Amino acid sequence: MKYNDIRKTFLDFFESHGHKIVPSASLIPNDPTLLFTVAGMVPWKGILQGTEPAFAPRVADVQKCIRAGGKHNDLDEVGFDGRHHTFFEMLGNWSFGDYFKAGAIEMSWELLTQVLKLDPARMRVTTHVTDEESTEIWRKVAGKDAIRLGDKDNWWSAGDTGPCGPCTEIFYDFGEEFENEDDRWVEIWNDVFMQYDRDANGNLSPLPKQNVDTGAGLERWAALLQNKVDNYDTDLFSNIIRATEDIVGVKKTDINTPSFKVIADHLRAVGFAIADGVIPSNTDRGYVIRRILRRAMRHGQMLGHRGALLSKLYPVLIAEMGDAYPELAREEKRVVEIIQNEENAFADMLQNGMKLLDAEIPKVQNGILPGTVAFKLFDTYGFPLDLTQMILREKNIDVDVAEFERAMAEQKERSRANTKGTRTLWESQTQLPATDDSYKYAPDENLESTVLAILRDGEFVQSANAGDNIEVALDKTNFYGTQGGQVGDAGELIANGNAVMTVTEAARVDNVVIHKGTLTADLSVGDKIKTKINMATRQQTARAHTATHLLQAALRHVLNEDVEQRGSKVSPDSVRFDFSFGRAMTADEKQAVEDLVNKWIAADMPVAHEEMSIDDAKKRGAMALFGEKYGDVVKVITAGDISCELCGGTHVYHTGEIMHARVNKEKSISSGIRRITMSVGTLAE
Ligand code: ALA
Repeated sequence: MKYNDIRKTFLDFFESHGHKIVPSASLIPNDPTLLFTVAGMVPWKGILQGTEPAFAPRVADVQKCIRAGGKHNDLDEVGFDGRHHTFFEMLGNWSFGDYFKAGAIEMSWELLTQVLKLDPARMRVTTHVTDEESTEIWRKVAGKDAIRLGDKDNWWSAGDTGPCGPCTEIFYDFGEEFENEDDRWVEIWNDVFMQYDRDANGNLSPLPKQNVDTGAGLERWAALLQNKVDNYDTDLFSNIIRATEDIVGVKKTDINTPSFKVIADHLRAVGFAIADGVIPSNTDRGYVIRRILRRAMRHGQMLGHRGALLSKLYPVLIAEMGDAYPELAREEKRVVEIIQNEENAFADMLQNGMKLLDAEIPKVQNGILPGTVAFKLFDTYGFPLDLTQMILREKNIDVDVAEFERAMAEQKERSRANTKGTRTLWESQTQLPATDDSYKYAPDENLESTVLAILRDGEFVQSANAGDNIEVALDKTNFYGTQGGQVGDAGELIANGNAVMTVTEAARVDNVVIHKGTLTADLSVGDKIKTKINMATRQQTARAHTATHLLQAALRHVLNEDVEQRGSKVSPDSVRFDFSFGRAMTADEKQAVEDLVNKWIAADMPVAHEEMSIDDAKKRGAMALFGEKYGDVVKVITAGDISCELCGGTHVYHTGEIMHARVNKEKSISSGIRRITMSVGTLAE
């Protein structure tokens, strides 16, 4: 039975037993204690706890899950056996105060033995030592004597606090040829009886209702139903692996199998996470996804492949899983673009970093690589520590992690000391001409530019080396330097087709754009380079900026015409908007503002970008910021007949590009001034 059929069989079964079928929730949980959705119950935590009303007494779904980077972390195991994944699908059925132990056990058993026709003799079950009731039910329903285990095996919770309870697990016998018990007996279903809430001190109190939370790994079911012992031999994975063989031009063998498994697994984690709105970055879940992507690229390299890999495989993921998850195809353009950007940025660094590492390996003493070398790999070539560790593990070499961490802390200290003074230093360079940044509105890949000044460690230098953290002024640029509340672009400086600098942010000191970041090759004053911005981040910022204008218009509609902007911050991740208003907004007002913004997004109004004299702009009724100085020629951004503002920022061309907006918070920041935060694009969906 194929994946698509198993999902359907599971959902049909529970639908016929009165369950409401719902689509998977996002991988980005609405829960600050978790990096990702790690189990099917995560979206239902509030309902299980009784703080949110249940929308149906019985629910079933197939939930996308990622277990990487947090407390639930399977990343390091992936590739080396047939059962570990970072991304997986969890089949689940829920009772919110409806059926309890008997109902759950009976239905699990019916589906496994009557519908899927698994041999009852090949299954065994466990219950919690204290749980007489479930043990008795198993005797009646299946004639099985449950194995009684303690908290470690048969008690389940998503985190240290929150809903929890005893569980009963069903194991399937993959055959006595497996000597190791864990390989032979594989857990195929976990029925959790959520009846307690655990507080921060570890105390249990009964939940208002008795609930059922079940979870079954679809990949394991597929292996079982396709007579495979390795999840990666099932239809979905073998198709991805076959496509990988075609792209890298190498066949899977006993020796290189781990690399094929890693790539197949990581394709799913990276593809699904980005489709759900995660953007690879240097923090939190964005960093976990960046690490996973780089790990996949490293395995591609081990197979002899160079350059783009996951972006080429993404269409295969859509072919395999797009029917069950329409978001994969809907987001294709954006996801592929983001993965390509990451792959391009990392490809050269991977080659160069490997050269450094290959040169260092023969010098290793006592099997320990110095932490300073690992740090250089991280700082200059973007190798996350765990990537270096993974490469070295194959050679039985460890990394001096304590020394790595010391080097990291010192670097942070240095850069703190540095950034304090750089504005004044740049201001002292009065001979520098204004940067011609007129290209920023329509960034041109072939814009040639010249390096005019380099600032390193508080000093202007003629040239700097790979690995240096520097700030650069150019004669021309595509980069938008932080201004007017919009954060600056990130991207790269390119010479002869290769990245020479990773730019983390473009700032602005008076009319000079300052590119801040790390060199990946040597750079000198007078060098000719090209400026390449990260378009995926730019588009997300443009969405956020146009959405900010719509937000201002909506606030004036819903609250009153006197609402005035008092400040804003537009970044790829979020919008912050401060405005004058005397009291807190009601929940209805917030909803009305959000609805109005989304109505205008759905109307897909054209957004005009025009230049005109300040007088013409005033005649047009363009809104300007009180107290702001404007030149004689200004830019005017007009969204349909809804909003017309003087604005130098970057914007979308149709409101529909914003996709969606969500109001997150509204609070007071000082007397008479409120702050509202909003997310846009897939982050809001
Ligand atoms: N929440 C339970 C699990 O993830 C079903 O195993």
